[in-house]
Amino acid sequence: MKVSVIGGAGGIGSSVAFSLLRTDHPYEIVVIDNRDNMIVSHVMDLQDALSLGGASSVVGGVMADAMDADIVVLSAAVPLKLNTSRDVFLTDNAAIVGSIVDQLVAGGFAGIFLLMTNPVDPLLTWVARRTGWARERLLGYTLNDTQRFRTGIAQALEVAPQRVSCWVVGEHGPGAVQVFSTVTLDGKPVDLTPEQRAHALDYAQNWYVRHVALDSGRTSTWSSGIGGALMVDAIARPTDEPFPASVILQGEYGVTGISSSSPVILGAQGLVKVIEIPLTSDETTQFVEAADKIDELTRVIEGK
Ligand SMILES: NC(=O)c1ccc[n+]([C@@H]2O[C@H](COP(=O)([O-])OP(=O)(O)OC[C@H]3O[C@@H](n4cnc5c(N)ncnc54)[C@H](O)[C@@H]3O)[C@@H](O)[C@H]2O)c1
Repeated sequence: MKVSVIGGAGGIGSSVAFSLLRTDHPYEIVVIDNRDNMIVSHVMDLQDALSLGGASSVVGGVMADAMDADIVVLSAAVPLKLNTSRDVFLTDNAAIVGSIVDQLVAGGFAGIFLLMTNPVDPLLTWVARRTGWARERLLGYTLNDTQRFRTGIAQALEVAPQRVSCWVVGEHGPGAVQVFSTVTLDGKPVDLTPEQRAHALDYAQNWYVRHVALDSGRTSTWSSGIGGALMVDAIARPTDEPFPASVILQGEYGVTGISSSSPVILGAQGLVKVIEIPLTSDETTQFVEAADKIDELTRVIEGK
């Protein structure tokens, strides 16, 4: 399976490439970026890593190498700056994503488009409107929301995060809905005390702002790299396990034509099925209000 990572010399893209190399699946990875020296630097390093094992190959490339990819992972973006909302990157990253998507359309790209660039929901909604690509081919990466909710719950329960399962739906941002009714510990439902809930919510909802405030100049490269690779793997080697993703909704959760997160089933063609999980009326309201905001942001890009 050919996976072209555009923005592949950046923090997230190189981490996705590295994490894919660590699987035992034979991926043909192409690293594409507009920083030529950084492509060569990463590829020299990753090719040496391959000498220690793995089934994949990795090379540097240019946009023409993305046209026959099975999956394009797009993480190209402007550099991180201090902010309290991913939305500050909306227009600058739309310019990058738009130019890349236009090249993919012109080049006849027919594979799966996996967007990681933020703000992922309005950008993916816009890509859907701009290209007319079927929703099955359009996936947004949002697993980190689930990772952070899991970690927050695990801290509150004083257990290892690997024992916790849960779902987060809606916006990849402040409108995310952490669904407490889905929380399990070792596969069994668990009720959290109000204090435990407050801790888990604080951790999940404020992770981004706290991390950006460090002014480290880096995003969540490790967790997003392993998560992005897991998402690619869920497409390459489908199972019936639901995976969180931002997808164009068609009536699910009462929303149509907007990309938001839900558990989904992934397969060789991309999106197989949206698994709509039951929400309380407050959770549904939060989901729909966030979808309205995503629509507004998408209209800003469209100039409407
Ligand atoms: N969806 C998520 O959960 C999630 C998680 C973490 C980060 N992100 C987002 O991923 C994006 C990338 O983050 P990062 O840490 O890798 O940033 P980064 O600055 O390290 O990397 C971005 C890369 O994009 C490249 N680039 C810019 N314009 C390009 C173009 N036109 N063509 C090709 N390459 C181009 C840059 O040269 C750079 O290498 C950001 O928008 C970030 O917010 C999303």
